[in-house]
Parts: sequence; structure tokens; C-alpha cells
Amino acid sequence: MQSLFEIQSASGSHPVLLSEQRVRDVVEACEGTIILADGFFRDQLQGLSRPVLFIEATEEAKDFTAIAPLVEECRRLGLARNGHILAVGGGVVQDIACFIATVYMRGVKWTFLPTTLLAMVDSCIGGKSSVNVGAFKNLVGSFYPPERIVVPTAAVETLPPEHVAAGRCEAAKICFARSDEIFTNYLGQASDIEGVASIVALSLGAKRWFVEVDEFDQNERLLLNFGHSFGHALESCTDYLVTHGVAVGVGCLAAVEMSAAANPALKQVPRVSALIENLLEILGGLDGLPAALEGVSREDFFRYWQSDKKHNPNAYRPILLDEQGFLYRAELIRDAAADNAIWGGFEAARRKVAEQARIGA
Ligand SMILES: NC(=O)c1ccc[n+]([C@@H]2O[C@H](COP(=O)([O-])OP(=O)(O)OC[C@H]3O[C@@H](n4cnc5c(N)ncnc54)[C@H](O)[C@@H]3O)[C@@H](O)[C@H]2O)c1
Repeated sequence: MQSLFEIQSASGSHPVLLSEQRVRDVVEACEGTIILADGFFRDQLQGLSRPVLFIEATEEAKDFTAIAPLVEECRRLGLARNGHILAVGGGVVQDIACFIATVYMRGVKWTFLPTTLLAMVDSCIGGKSSVNVGAFKNLVGSFYPPERIVVPTAAVETLPPEHVAAGRCEAAKICFARSDEIFTNYLGQASDIEGVASIVALSLGAKRWFVEVDEFDQNERLLLNFGHSFGHALESCTDYLVTHGVAVGVGCLAAVEMSAAANPALKQVPRVSALIENLLEILGGLDGLPAALEGVSREDFFRYWQSDKKHNPNAYRPILLDEQGFLYRAELIRDAAADNAIWGGFEAARRKVAEQARIGA
């Protein structure tokens, strides 16, 4: 295993490691009295000496009402106050395992093995859990970092293309948010399987800075919500057919388009044109994405946009770009002009994605 870094948090520091071994071998080498694993690993994790609870990674699985039966199952499998949960999966399993670890007998230890590219490059650090309540995505949650994170990079080999794209979008967003130097470095990495370890190291290194200066999302870390106000609305409008990371990628493009509508020179700023090119290269190759975006109606979009928990009663608070192409937290009074600018940003982004798909076809 290769040590990437120790990440500091209010509850102490914890190591982040990379491993090239198979997921099963990494699981066997890690601590954990019970294992919460993504159902995808059902075959690979047969016959372990510790109890395994498999979870189908869907948005319904991380609904608040679905958590109680899992907690009961943890109890049945013998999880005690001094127990330790080993979580194996993507963001859905992370959200569930972190949430249960936070509240189970007022808190048990946990370790995380992220198996999607999105979880490897982004969500595995920062210690957040988010659980859906009814129609409201990620409405409740906690900050509760794991004891240890081990990234089994070889797991990306079995990921479907839309989940590889999702991870690449999040990595692009994080590196762009951090600095020109890191973003340029990210753009120079191979985007195939060979480049995974480098992209994970760069992206987590960039995100580490945000987590360490602002662990509890009060200031700098909020910039990582770039693309998210649009993204959450798009995920919900498409009934999660568009994955979280891909929706964030489209959301970043929409935020760029919205910012450029007020400042047309923005798209000529080198860091911004490089971001647009990179995101379009990732998104343009995804079958079905243009059709899914085309199906989003203005009415549905705003129904979900309005419910974003980052807004306040008077203002929308998306992350936009200033004249130099740097991110800032916008405050837009909720009125018709703001609605038109937001919808205009999304429409321009979906047009660009459809054009790119046509060029690539
Ligand atoms: N807590 C956080 O900080 C945080 C951050 C970002 C996103 N999220 C949440 O994460 C969720 C999205 O997570 P995700 O994109 O990682 O995907 P996911 O957990 O939804 O999994 C996506 C699919 O990939 C499968 N899968 C997992 N690993 C695989 C592998 N190695 N090979 C093949 N298939 C595999 C799963 O079974 C599932 O079908 C969303 O609910 C989002 O809100 C949480």
C-alpha cells in the first residue's frame, strides 16, 4: 500500500492510502468487525470470515426510512459499541455507512474502501454522510470521518463508462477549484486506467486543502459545490438516470455559461476554456446524455432547484465564476431575472453537450 497523506480533522488525523490489490485482498487486510458492501461485490466477497451486509447502491437505499432496517441488521450481525464498520463501495455505501457509524450506539469506528472513481477522487475524504428524506436529496447527514481510507484503484476496471465519466467530472471540478497549477497538472494526466492513481492523488491532494482549512463547510469548502445546484436539480429531474458526477459536470458547464452570459470574455480566459474543453470531452461521449438533458422541463428543473439546501429564503446561492474565471459564492435575489439567467445557463450547457455528442458520433 502506498501512503498518500494523513488528513487532519477536528476528530484527529487519519491516513489515506492507495492499493493496487484486488478489492477482496484489500478487504482482508483491513480492520472491521462487520462489512457493509455494495451489492456489486456479492460474488467477490463470498466466504469471508466476517459478516457482510450487502447494499444495492440506489438513491432509495440511502433514504432515511431504509436506514433503520440496516441498523437492525447491524445489531443482529453483532456490531457492538467497540465494533468497527468496514465500508466497501461508492458514494451511496459511504453515505449509509458513515451515517450509521455516526449514530450507532452514539458512534462506532469505520474504515472506507471507495470503489467508484467518484468516491476515490472526491467523496472518500471530508467525512460527510448524506441521507435522502422523501423527495429531498441529502437533507440530513453528519461530519464523521473514517479511521482510515484505502483506495483500491484497480476497482475502476469494472466501472461502466458513465461512472468513469462521473469521477472524471468531479476530479476536474476539484482541481479547477484549487489552482491553475493543479488543474494544468490534472489535464496532463492520462484519462485511461493507467492514469487513475495519478488523478486520485491529484484530486484528493487538492480536496485535502479545502477540508483542512474549512472542515465544516462554512467558507472555502463551499466552493466545491461548483456545479451542484444545477447538478442536484438535473439528477432529480432525470430520476437519477444522469449520475451524480455527470450531473455535476453538466452543472459546472451551466455555471460557466451563466457566468459568461454576463461577461462574454470569460470563455476566452485560458483556465475556463480548458475546463469547458475537458468537460465536453468527458460528457460528449456518453450515450443517452443529450436525450436525458433534453427531457428536462423548466418547471421540473425549478421545482428541484428551489429545494437546494444551499439557498436561503431570499436568495439563490450557486457557485459562479468571476471575470478571471475564479469561483465565488453568488447571492442572487429570487426573481424572474435570476430564473431566466439560471435556465439560460442550463439550456446553453445542454446545447453544447448535444453538439459535442454529434461531433463525436
Ligand atoms: N458523502 C459525500 O461526501 C458525497 C459526495 C459526493 C457524492 N455523494 C453521494 O454519492 C452517491 C453517488 O455515488 P457514486 O457515484 O460513487 O456511485 P454509487 O455508489 O451510486 O454506485 C454507482 C454504481 O456503481 C456500482 N459500483 C460500485 N463500485 C463498482 C465497481 N468497482 N465496479 C462496477 N460497479 C461498481 C454500484 O453498484 C452502483 O450500481 C450519490 O448519492 C451522492 O449524493 C456523497
